[in-house]
Amino acid sequence: MPSVGRHLLTRYDDIVHAEKLPEVFSSREEGSLLRTVGPNMLREDDPEHRRLRAAAEPPTRPRQVRDLWAGSFERTAHELLDRIAGRGEADLVRDFAEPLVAANLALVLGLHNAGADDIADWSRAMMAGNSNYVNDPDVWLRAEQATLAIEMAVAERAGAVRREPDGSVISSMVNAPEPVDLAETQNNVKVIVGGGVNEPRDVFGVGAWALLQRPEVLDRVLAEPALWKRVFEETARWISPIGMYPRQLTQDYEIAGVTLPAGSRVALVIASGNRDESVFLRADEFDVDRPHRPHLAFGGGPHFCMGAWVARHEVSALAWPLVFGRLKGLRLDDGAEDRMEGWVFRGPTSLNVTWHASA
Ligand code: HEM
Repeated sequence: MPSVGRHLLTRYDDIVHAEKLPEVFSSREEGSLLRTVGPNMLREDDPEHRRLRAAAEPPTRPRQVRDLWAGSFERTAHELLDRIAGRGEADLVRDFAEPLVAANLALVLGLHNAGADDIADWSRAMMAGNSNYVNDPDVWLRAEQATLAIEMAVAERAGAVRREPDGSVISSMVNAPEPVDLAETQNNVKVIVGGGVNEPRDVFGVGAWALLQRPEVLDRVLAEPALWKRVFEETARWISPIGMYPRQLTQDYEIAGVTLPAGSRVALVIASGNRDESVFLRADEFDVDRPHRPHLAFGGGPHFCMGAWVARHEVSALAWPLVFGRLKGLRLDDGAEDRMEGWVFRGPTSLNVTWHASA
């Protein structure tokens, strides 16, 4: 694909194959678009990657999500719904999902000195930088400003949690058994701010949009809440919040009958792999009953998404059940034009809905 200077792997099996060979399909991409971030786990290979990931990961494991964060996530979701419930109309992406996941991320990271609005703004600026394939100077400038703001916030919190650990990601990194320095902590927080808002927000929006157009599926899910988990996995497969991510070849390598030279840039197009008809029957359909096959939305191999359990919990255990449970008569606003946008990062730009305001 000359316009993006990359070979695109689009089939499920080829993507899985590449993810099993991180020593060939390296994450240490030269001139990565994550350049405003500095060295970080997402664009390192093992053993560097493993050291950084091991330091950051503990607060995002399923048990920690349940024991440390779930209660606050739920309180925040109720507060946001309290604010809009009487209105009878809202854009659920802007007024609910984004502030919810941004506040949750601030909590998990330990950025108590930043508001949900700061996190959402920084995230937007970082994401725009990370997908600035057209090299827009304004986009770089905003990403650099966000970078500086995050660095200052992390430096302040790092000092505090060194004295008094609080179970957060920053605390876990600062107090890790294998040392992680301040710059490394800052860089990884930047990556997480960049990647921890859009994706859960977009899964929320896509799934709610899909269900509002399929009342018979929604009724089943409301009657059988265990199905929310399936709705989550099918939503992430169907319209993957991250459409592609990059790798670079460390050696000449033949894949799908084509020999690519060392140094080639490759894109793993998981949005396409997730709709590979040889793996997912009627792949373009949203079907919560499809036979289980692991989707690729969280990636694979050593870089498998660190926030998967945070995202699953905040969206499928809390956000959807609370929204559909509390906002009675919820429906898509007939006049609104909600659109899906993006291919590196993909999701609805808005989700305009109405409900019975007395609820
Ligand atoms: C539905 C929501 C999400 C989706 C679909 C998603 C998707 C992904 C994907 C595809 C990757 C792999 C990228 C690559 O290998 O280049 C990844 C990595 C990562 N994600 Fe997520 N993500 C989500 C939510 C989150 C959240 C909420 C957080 C933070 C709490 C997070 C933190 C990370 C981190 C730190 C990595 C890098 C892991 C590593 O390099 O070992 N993600 N994510």
